[in-house]
Amino acid sequence: MLGPLLLAASGSDRIRRFVSGAPMTRPVVDRFIAGDALPDALATVRALAARGIDVTLDHLGEDITEVSQAHRSRDAYLALLDALGAEGLGDRAEVSVKLSAFGQSLPGGRRLALEGARAVCAKAAEIGTTVTLDMEDHTTVDSTLAILAELRRDFPRTGVAVQAALFRTEQDVRALASSGSRVRLVKGAYKEPASVAHQRRQDVDRAYARCLNTLMAGEGYPMVGSHDPRVIDLALKLAERYGRAPDSYEFQMLYGIRDGEQRRLAAEEGRRVRAYIPYGSDWYGYFMRRLAERPANLAFFLRSLLTR
Ligand code: FDA
Repeated sequence: MLGPLLLAASGSDRIRRFVSGAPMTRPVVDRFIAGDALPDALATVRALAARGIDVTLDHLGEDITEVSQAHRSRDAYLALLDALGAEGLGDRAEVSVKLSAFGQSLPGGRRLALEGARAVCAKAAEIGTTVTLDMEDHTTVDSTLAILAELRRDFPRTGVAVQAALFRTEQDVRALASSGSRVRLVKGAYKEPASVAHQRRQDVDRAYARCLNTLMAGEGYPMVGSHDPRVIDLALKLAERYGRAPDSYEFQMLYGIRDGEQRRLAAEEGRRVRAYIPYGSDWYGYFMRRLAERPANLAFFLRSLLTR
């Protein structure tokens, strides 16, 4: 019940101002966000790399209203990639981009987002890494997949996230499970209407299993984006069934969630694990989605308010 309320709150400016301004929020935010600035993110990348965990970095920012903000997002990614290149981290770190931060929902947004993403893909290729497009709510899927197709012409390793919760995704993964494609399968973090998405957890989980089977059986590079132990077991079983080598797919988890499991998996011979690291000052939407996802995250937040 609380999940949908928190997801609704993630779009409210009033609640955003209240939560963002409250000093007691910060320690909880720090569990999920790797700091406000680039040096914070780089320190986290180095620490994880030392444990054999690769990363994908998300410079936080979404729901923008002006073209200048889209340019600022693009420039933040260019600076991030320059810094990763300077530290020789191109082989351990890629970046994750929300096209809304590049102006996707503004008038003429498709072109604007494509131009921003293209500049970021070019810089990523320069330092030997790549870009994955995050997936946002269902109204953005067609536009995101169209932008992906354009980017892949010049940057074939560009990846995309797809959400098992959406009915359409089973069809989308069939089209995407082809040679050279990189697809991150997630359950889906947005509140979606019953006309387009499964509403019950068990239905999402079953859809996830079917999509994962399609990706593992296919010729692309599956990225298993989940903390769910049943999903991780299933991925390992499917990899065995389809004769996949450990370096032909990877596990992805969010920064601050199941760190022990990330380390355990990464310690296994040849296993690839990537942590998704969000950083930046615009953390509100991302933070609220994490609280909505799991009662334990919310309980942790409420406890920290009471114990201060
Ligand atoms: P779910 O939340 O259903 O939990 C299942 C089980 O996992 C739990 O019962 C528990 O056993 C375990 N678990 C989960 N959280 C835990 C915790 N904090 N501590 C201990 N155990 C825990 N979404 C989206 O819409 N677009 C996107 O682009 C992305 N990108 C993305 C990247 C990466 C790398 C990840 C991991 C996730 C995303 N997501 C996303 C978010 C995704 O859609 C989803 O909301 C979360 O991953 C939560 O779903 P899970 O599959 O983790 O399991």
